[in-house]
Amino acid sequence: MSTIRKVVVLGASGNVGRPIVGALIASGFDVTAVSRSTINSSTSNLSAKYLTTDYSYSSLSDVFKNQDAIVCAYNPAAAAAHHKAIAVAALACGIKHLITPDFSSDTFNAHVDELQIFEPKRKAQRYLERKIQDAGSSMHWTAIICGPFWDWAIPRGIFWLDPKSRTVTIFGSGNQRISMSGISMVGRASVEVLSRPEKYVNRPAYFADYTISNNQLLAIAEEVAKEKWNTRSVSLGGLREEGLKQWDEDTKNGVHDRLNSTAYQMLGTYGLFEGDNRYTADFGDKAEAGWQKGVYELEEELRVLLEQKEHR
Ligand SMILES: NC(=O)c1ccc[n+]([C@@H]2O[C@H](COP(=O)([O-])OP(=O)(O)OC[C@H]3O[C@@H](n4cnc5c(N)ncnc54)[C@H](OP(=O)(O)O)[C@@H]3O)[C@@H](O)[C@H]2O)c1
Repeated sequence: MSTIRKVVVLGASGNVGRPIVGALIASGFDVTAVSRSTINSSTSNLSAKYLTTDYSYSSLSDVFKNQDAIVCAYNPAAAAAHHKAIAVAALACGIKHLITPDFSSDTFNAHVDELQIFEPKRKAQRYLERKIQDAGSSMHWTAIICGPFWDWAIPRGIFWLDPKSRTVTIFGSGNQRISMSGISMVGRASVEVLSRPEKYVNRPAYFADYTISNNQLLAIAEEVAKEKWNTRSVSLGGLREEGLKQWDEDTKNGVHDRLNSTAYQMLGTYGLFEGDNRYTADFGDKAEAGWQKGVYELEEELRVLLEQKEHR
């Protein structure tokens, strides 16, 4: 397989796009960061080339020309609206490798459609595979599955550990283990896949820093803080049904950014904490070897986070 050097990052201005652009540049890739509008120079990475697209076939073809790989780092709304044009333009331009719009839970799990939220990613995936096959193309893809970004979610108040009130929210029994990553994983994993693409051909690649239950996290937080933490228990009963109801309401109301909706959060949370690992929240057994860290590292990372002024 030939070497990948030139990489397009779509959705470059987002939470996930920015660290991917930074990590690829730091690893010596030639990066074109692509957005719908011009990215503010104060938030741009000066070593990247910046382009805009309206996601039309012709605009994407201009962007993909002479490139080796694409990373789809955009919001799932873009997957819903533009996955066909992206796949067709990528094939026409001879792209060698495409990293799919994943970076979250296991969208390859057999039951995941019960949660609704991954529908755009799943549709885009099916379309991509069919198009590659129909075209008899040698373009390859990889889906990076990395679980929730714990260090990114905590400051946003959307994680189950709240440093300010010293509270851990226990969903269900608290024993379901969850594979999770720091936000930097999106860059580390993208660099890994594009540096050794032959290892990751046409498959989901599972990356996690930690696989840990809420009850274990509570014990670690108490060990690090040297004090007792509060707990808040939340039952999972009815959470999926309530989330689906809200999802349908959002559909009726034409909600566009579903990633940042309450329904997404409810259904995503249910998918993580359902107690029989029905949605592979714990993917530790299929995670890439050598990436998971131990309790000591988690304690150290948590200690640093708790010492930050805004968390005291
Ligand atoms: N594992 C986790 O905990 C976790 C957390 C968050 C996100 N994720 C996943 O990571 C991926 C990226 O999420 P994110 O938080 O980075 O998303 P985001 O910040 O909401 O959006 C990323 C970028 O997508 C582009 N975009 C948004 N809506 C679009 C549309 N309708 N059409 C075209 N482009 C659009 C925008 O870029 P431009 O304006 O520059 O074009 C935006 O900056 C998603 O697949 C998401 O599911 C995972």
